[in-house]
Amino acid sequence: NSLLLLMFLPVLKHFSYSGFYKLDSLKHVKDVGVQTPWGRPSSNVMILALPSGAQIAFIARHGINHSITPSEVNGQANIAALKHVGVKAIVAFSAVGSLREEIKPGDFIIPNQVIDRTKSIRQHTYFGLNQGVVAHAMFGEPFTTELSSFIAPLVKQVLPSGLNLHTNHGDRDSTLVCMEGPQFSTRAESRMYRQLGADIINMSVIPEAKLAKEAELGYSLICTSTDYDAWRMNEEPVTVAEVIKTLTTNAENSKFVAQNVLQHVHDAISANKIPSQNGSMQFSIVTSKD
Ligand code: ADE
Repeated sequence: NSLLLLMFLPVLKHFSYSGFYKLDSLKHVKDVGVQTPWGRPSSNVMILALPSGAQIAFIARHGINHSITPSEVNGQANIAALKHVGVKAIVAFSAVGSLREEIKPGDFIIPNQVIDRTKSIRQHTYFGLNQGVVAHAMFGEPFTTELSSFIAPLVKQVLPSGLNLHTNHGDRDSTLVCMEGPQFSTRAESRMYRQLGADIINMSVIPEAKLAKEAELGYSLICTSTDYDAWRMNEEPVTVAEVIKTLTTNAENSKFVAQNVLQHVHDAISANKIPSQNGSMQFSIVTSKD
């Protein structure tokens, strides 16, 4: 039974504002249409085979035609669908704006921290109102640190020449601010985020990082920078045209990086070199069983 087999495979999710709608260099095994209690995921779950035969799963965050706006992405369904097909860890991709001079368009960033500036129109939890269960997930480390630090050197090894990988800003972790959108930030907001200590900005990491945590899945994010947002006073604020200009190249680079790191991630998870998140919610539930 192929679904049972998949239950033991670590998997990957890739995302799409990065222009990343499929991983065409991998062998397509099948599409799985999943209906979850929270609705349908953004796309079918695409099961793809690495050259070794190991399988990964892929969801296009904004739909395969980029028809789902960041506020509308059904994070609950996406994460539940990946969990359903047996994913153990998610490596998500995202295009981001840069809030630092040294993070140039095209550069890669693996953030370690998040500032959540999204609004409550997004469904942030599986433990919402009227569930009869109270739970508080730990979110001090929003990403799976062991997974991110495993991936970083692999990404660095395969980066196209001229590009850099950023994992920190000086002596502190690299920080991603997630805004609601769909409009980009004002110049004042962009400068405020810099003062808050944010290095990059996107519209996608929340709530999926929170939901992955609640679903006991590993979760790391590989970002590519498309623009300098709006804080550079001697330049025009970011436009969609500017984002799209670097998007295609960034997507190609991200696919190349993905192909080269997935097998290693798969092997490390299978060999328990990256700790499983199973049981991580064990002490998060406050409601008693009786
Ligand atoms: N995604 C890519 N660039 C962005 C920006 N400047 N702000 C928010 N999300 C983005």
